[in-house]
Amino acid sequence: MLPFLCCTFHFSCFPIPDYAIGVPGLEILLSRDQIAHRVADMGDQITHDFSGESVVFVGVLKGAAIFLSDLARQVQLDATFDFIGVTSYGNRPKPEDETKPGATTWDSTGEVRLTKDVDQSLRGKNVILVEDILDTGLTLAYLKRLLLGHDPRAFRIAALLDKPSRRIQPVEADYLGFSIPDKFVVGYGLDHAERYRNLPDICILSE
Ligand code: IMP
Ligand code: MG
Repeated sequence: MLPFLCCTFHFSCFPIPDYAIGVPGLEILLSRDQIAHRVADMGDQITHDFSGESVVFVGVLKGAAIFLSDLARQVQLDATFDFIGVTSYGNRPKPEDETKPGATTWDSTGEVRLTKDVDQSLRGKNVILVEDILDTGLTLAYLKRLLLGHDPRAFRIAALLDKPSRRIQPVEADYLGFSIPDKFVVGYGLDHAERYRNLPDICILSE
C-alpha cells in the first residue's frame, strides 16, 4: 500500500536534501508530499464530519503551529484558531543525556503544566485540538481533561504523528496522520532543543 493512502508508517527511500547535508544522523522519514497528501485527507474528513457547522482549532504550541496552518487550509468550514501552551515535567532528559535527541526519563506523576491558556471561551463550540505528535499521551490526556471542562459542543483530537509503542496514558487521536516507530523525529514543526522546526520534511534525528 502506498504510504499516503494509509496512516501506518512504511519505510521509504528519499534522497538526503541540501539542508540535511552536514547534519549527522538526519534522514527523511516522511516527505513533504506524503505529509501534504495525508493532511489534505484529514482536512476532507473534518469538513465532512462538521458539515454546516463551525470549528475552533486549538493548536498546542509550538510544535503544532505548522500542522495547524496546513490542516486549517484544507478544511472547508467556518473556522477560528486558538493556541495553548504546556510544559511537561514527565518527559525530562537526564542531565547527562541532555544533548541526546529523545533521551527521556520519567517521574512518577508525569505532571503537565499550562504555560498559556486559550484566549476564548470554548463553551458550546466544536473544538479540534491540534497536536504535532502523540507520544506517552501525558500531554493530550491533560489537555483533553482541561478542555472538556469548558463544556464544548464537540471535542476531537487531530494529531499528525503517533508513537503508539510509547503510550502511558490511554488517549487516541480522532484524526491521525501517521503512526510511526519509536524514533526521535524533527521537522514540520517538531524540534530538538528548538532547532529543525522549519524543515519541510519529517526526519529521524538519530545522533
Ligand atoms: P507526550 O506528552 O509524551 O505525548 O508528548 C508529546 C510531546 O512531546 C509532543 O507535543 C512533542 O512536543 C514532544 N515529542 C514527543 N516525541 C517527539 C519527537 O520524536 N520529536 C520531537 N518532539 C517530540
Ligand atoms: Mg508538542
